[in-house]
Amino acid sequence: MNLQAILDEIEREIQPHLGSGKVADYIPALARIDPTKFGIAVTTIDGDSYAAGDSAERFSIQSVSKVFTLTMAAELIDQELWKRVGREPSGSPFNSIVQLEYEHGIPRNPFINPGAVVITDIILSHEKSRDAKGAILAFLRELADDEAIGTNPEVAASEKEWGFRNAALANLMKAFGNIENAVDDVLDIYFNQCAIEMTCRQLSRAMLYLANQGTDPISGRVIVSPGRAKRINSIMLTCGHYDASGDFAVRVGLPGKSGVGGGIVAIVPQCLAIAVWSPALNEQGNSFAGTLALEKFAARTGYSIF
Ligand code: DON
Repeated sequence: MNLQAILDEIEREIQPHLGSGKVADYIPALARIDPTKFGIAVTTIDGDSYAAGDSAERFSIQSVSKVFTLTMAAELIDQELWKRVGREPSGSPFNSIVQLEYEHGIPRNPFINPGAVVITDIILSHEKSRDAKGAILAFLRELADDEAIGTNPEVAASEKEWGFRNAALANLMKAFGNIENAVDDVLDIYFNQCAIEMTCRQLSRAMLYLANQGTDPISGRVIVSPGRAKRINSIMLTCGHYDASGDFAVRVGLPGKSGVGGGIVAIVPQCLAIAVWSPALNEQGNSFAGTLALEKFAARTGYSIF
C-alpha cells in the first residue's frame, strides 16, 4: 500500500472542507489560529514515516495530552487509579459539571476534563522528582524522541485566565475529597500539559507505543505492558471524543483522542499511529476536517480494529 499517495490524496480532497467548524475561542490564545491549516502524519511500527500538508507545524496538543498523562499515572499507582476515575463514556461535553455532582466527584473517565485533572493530581502526588510539569514534558520528549518539544506559556496563561469551568470542576472534586493537592497547583500543571505544542509528525511518533503493545518499536523501550496498552486503546475508542465517541468509532473504527487545538491521534494496532491537525472544530469540540481525514484514511486503507 502506498501510504504517501493516500496522504497526498486526502490532503487534496480535504481542501474544500477546511475552515468548516469553529476554532476554540474559549481559550483566547487559540482563537487566533488560522482555521484552514491542515496536517497529517503517519509513523509505522517499522519506523517509516509519511506526511502531508502542515505536518511539521507545531500546534497546541490540548486534550491529546490526556493519553500521555493517563499512561504516566497508571504506571505510578496502577489499579488504585480506578477508585478515583471511571472508565465509561460520559455521553456529555468534555467540561460538563452536572454529571460530576450526581456521581459524587468521580469523573466518568480520564479523558474528560475532570478525569484528566484527577490524573494530573495523581502525578503531582506520586511523581518522585516532585516536578510534575517537568516529568510530563520529559516523557513526551522521550516518546517523540525530540528534545525541542515545549509548552507555549501564552496558551497556558490564557487557559489559566479563562479557566473558570475547570476551576469549578476541580473545586467540586476537592469538596468530594477526590483531589489531594491544592486546586491551584493541580490546575497549573493541567493547563501547562494542555499547552504543550507538537507537530503531527512528533505526535504520530510519540503514540507509537500504543500501536505496538506498549513497547516503543524504534527505541525498544517498554513504556507500558501489553495489557495496559490494550486498556488505554480501549478507553480511547470508547471515550476519546467525548459525546462524539460513538460517532468517531462508527466513522473511523480506530482508537483515537482529540484536543480542542484541532489535533487528533488514532492507532492502528500492530501497524501505525496517525496524527491529523486542523483547528476548526465541530460542535463537540473535535476537529471537523481532522475527523473527516481520518474517516477517509480508514476507508482508503481498510484499517480498522473490527
Ligand atoms: O481544559 C480545557 O478545556 C482544554 N485545555 C482542553 C480541552 C480539550 O482539548 C477538549 N477537546 N476536545
